Amino acid sequence: MKFFVDTADTAAIRELHELGMVDGVTTNPSLILKSGRDILEVTREICEMIPGPVSAEVVALEADAMIAEGRKLAKIAGNITVKVPLTWDGLKACKVLSDEGHMVNVTLCFSAAQALLAAKAGATFISPFLGRLDDINLDGMQLIADIRQIYDNYGFETQILAASIRSVNHMTEAAKIGADVATAPPAVIKAMANHPLTDKGLAAFLQDWAKTGQKIL
Ligand code: E4P
Repeated sequence: MKFFVDTADTAAIRELHELGMVDGVTTNPSLILKSGRDILEVTREICEMIPGPVSAEVVALEADAMIAEGRKLAKIAGNITVKVPLTWDGLKACKVLSDEGHMVNVTLCFSAAQALLAAKAGATFISPFLGRLDDINLDGMQLIADIRQIYDNYGFETQILAASIRSVNHMTEAAKIGADVATAPPAVIKAMANHPLTDKGLAAFLQDWAKTGQKIL
């Protein structure tokens, strides 16, 4: 499973990138607001750092305006993925932009039916939002499984990008189901390294090591 980082915080992206953990980046208007930076400037900086797909989201609601925004965003760098919402106009924009050769990430997907439409419209990525479904007591993971089954049934090449990830468990479950990509906040990716038995085992080893009186260096 590929890892995308869900942030516009360039320092956090750099830290994970140095460990080889970043296959791509996703941003959205809320994450741009959080960064406090200009969308074009921060997105360009991310694209220069990360060779993989970097999603930048349009904010227009009508297809022609989305297409114009998408074309402008795509000029930032060759690895831009234009992010469009899963609305009827978003699907129209997806079709035009993907036909032009741009990568398109169709976002805010909450049903398998929506995901099927995005694949038909030529989406490079479909972003089902796990956490936001869990927030309203619906099964986000079942949605990933349903999309996986539908895409595999018909050989759609659209990649499933598990989004709105909130926990380590979301990461492992999405990987088990076969999501192609998961996009997660940096803190979730870092939390994947944690296990209480690792901490306990390490403490015991260090205690015993101290008793040997030895040094390695
Ligand atoms: C995905 O591309 C979105 O930017 C993101 O995963 C949304 O996550 P949230 O529901 O935690 O805001």
